Amino acid sequence: MCGIIGYLGDQEATPILMESLKRLEYRGYDSAGVAVLEMPAAGKANHTSITKSEAKVDMLIEKLKANMPTGKLGIGHTRWATHGKPTYVNAHPHTDCHNRIFVVHNGIIENFAELKAELQAAGHEFTSDTDTEVVPHLIEANYKGDFLSAVRAALKRIRGAYALAMFSTDDPELLIGARLNAPLVVGLGDHEYYIASDITAIIPYTKRVLVLGEGEVVAVTPLGAQVSTLDGVSVQPKLIHVDWDLSQAQKGGYRHFMLKEIHESPEAVANAMRGRLTDDGIVTFREFDVPDEEMRRYREVLLLGMGTSLHAAMVGEYIIEDWAGIPAKAMDASEFRYRRPTFSEDGSLAVVLTQSGETADTLVGLHQAKQRGARTVAVTNVVASSAARDADGAIYLHSGPEIGVASTKTLLAHLISLYLLGLRMATVHGRVSLERRHELVESLRALPDHVEGIVARENEIAKIAKKYSRYRNFMYTGRGLGYAIALEGAIKLKEISYIHAEGVTGGELKHGPIAMLDENFPVIAVCTSSATKDKMVSNVHEIVARSAPVLALVTEGDHSLDGVATDVFVMPAVEEAAGAILNTVMLQLFAYHVAVELGQDVDQPRNLAKSVTVE
Ligand code: F6R
Repeated sequence: MCGIIGYLGDQEATPILMESLKRLEYRGYDSAGVAVLEMPAAGKANHTSITKSEAKVDMLIEKLKANMPTGKLGIGHTRWATHGKPTYVNAHPHTDCHNRIFVVHNGIIENFAELKAELQAAGHEFTSDTDTEVVPHLIEANYKGDFLSAVRAALKRIRGAYALAMFSTDDPELLIGARLNAPLVVGLGDHEYYIASDITAIIPYTKRVLVLGEGEVVAVTPLGAQVSTLDGVSVQPKLIHVDWDLSQAQKGGYRHFMLKEIHESPEAVANAMRGRLTDDGIVTFREFDVPDEEMRRYREVLLLGMGTSLHAAMVGEYIIEDWAGIPAKAMDASEFRYRRPTFSEDGSLAVVLTQSGETADTLVGLHQAKQRGARTVAVTNVVASSAARDADGAIYLHSGPEIGVASTKTLLAHLISLYLLGLRMATVHGRVSLERRHELVESLRALPDHVEGIVARENEIAKIAKKYSRYRNFMYTGRGLGYAIALEGAIKLKEISYIHAEGVTGGELKHGPIAMLDENFPVIAVCTSSATKDKMVSNVHEIVARSAPVLALVTEGDHSLDGVATDVFVMPAVEEAAGAILNTVMLQLFAYHVAVELGQDVDQPRNLAKSVTVE
């Protein structure tokens, strides 16, 4: 996810920006840049120097060292591409037509296309493919000599998520920050101020930090930091004293990246939906903008992925078949690549699921599907990845970087993307009523809060995990979506705790796997609301009869396993698709805490790589 930093004070800005950007590197990024308001020679107008690198911060630092801008006001950025490839022109800071207003941004501006068209019609010239560039132009369009008022007026027009740091060459002693649905903090030093997307960037300089609220703007001058709303109403911000050391700050205070990323799940779920779903359940994907008649032509859907992304594909298979009523098939990409499938000409869609966009088998599967006549779409977290480039269209996850080797938040974003695709297909095929669409929209929109609710129960989950961490074998079982989630629960446990775990359907249990069960072989059973819930309850009775301990995930209000399962974990009553997401988060936290209990290297498990770029 992008990192931003701004500085105004007594010291030279450039070295501070350079150091802060180095500390923001951990967030993951593809390019970087800074803008510094240079001290003008006597009688000359103010001048801003921009330095950018289309690659690493170290390259930016080399450039800055070779040509060091001098000035006490500056902004810097590490960019994680969301709109537009990671190129020099797309790197931030961005500016207006007259190089007067400079902006760095973290987030996604949902309505940027309409704003850009409006600004272009009014004569503004754009130089990048980014959504961010509308911000300086919009401020310019509203500028009547007062920078802060122009910023407020511009931000009122913007929908989506932003954390911004900005300055204007006309106001050499004013640094402005603003946030909506993206974090921003203001560091208070001695006669100096910092604006940053997280505390990591500024921790060596100050421990006194103001946390900006949603929709608030901060105007920083040598006299202090004034916080207000977009309507100009003054706000008393919360001042906190930070007691982190640097290494903690890299992980935002969490012990592991995996845990941090699980805690980012509510935001990942919200980001995957942002700007894509209307109140009536109409779905649009900007980079996969297929007209309805073409979408209707797809009579079959193939979903490809590996590991956790294959489990997402399996959920998608059930959803598309159920909601849209067309054949859907999930396949392990490494198997698919060696098969000789046939596709009906022009009528097949291949959905390729890959967080990194670089998994070798998945890419070959994508090429194979394309060659054989399927239309392809990559669902990926990395904008300029090979999958995004090679597929006909892309659905971006917008989850921000995932650093822990085990995929967590990006799986949730994959599932949301597939739900939206399923809803889109169901709509064009006339398989879903307006009333049902409203129900689904309501349930999807409530999901970030529900996910937050599960994450907030971490201690409860950790206690259960501690109790189960002594076992060396686990079986996970479920049916339908619950089967895909059972497989996912098992892979999470295997990869970070090295405990043997397998996933089987409830129906398959009696065809072999049940023979292994005894009092030392616990079963995690996904028994939340679904058409096959009662069948799962019967399965749990069969398991208990073999003396195996059972941890059952059940829906609140359902008492059928009380006193039967060894432990029940009660989930909120939600739509089945939403429930699959909540069950996933619970099982991720369970696996995480088992691994921590066993003292394993959670973020970098042995033998595994984040991105498997070889077959
Ligand atoms: C498991 C995990 C892996 C990946 C798999 C595919 O937690 O992270 O199983 O899901 O290697 O990776 P992507 O999605 O990058 O193609």
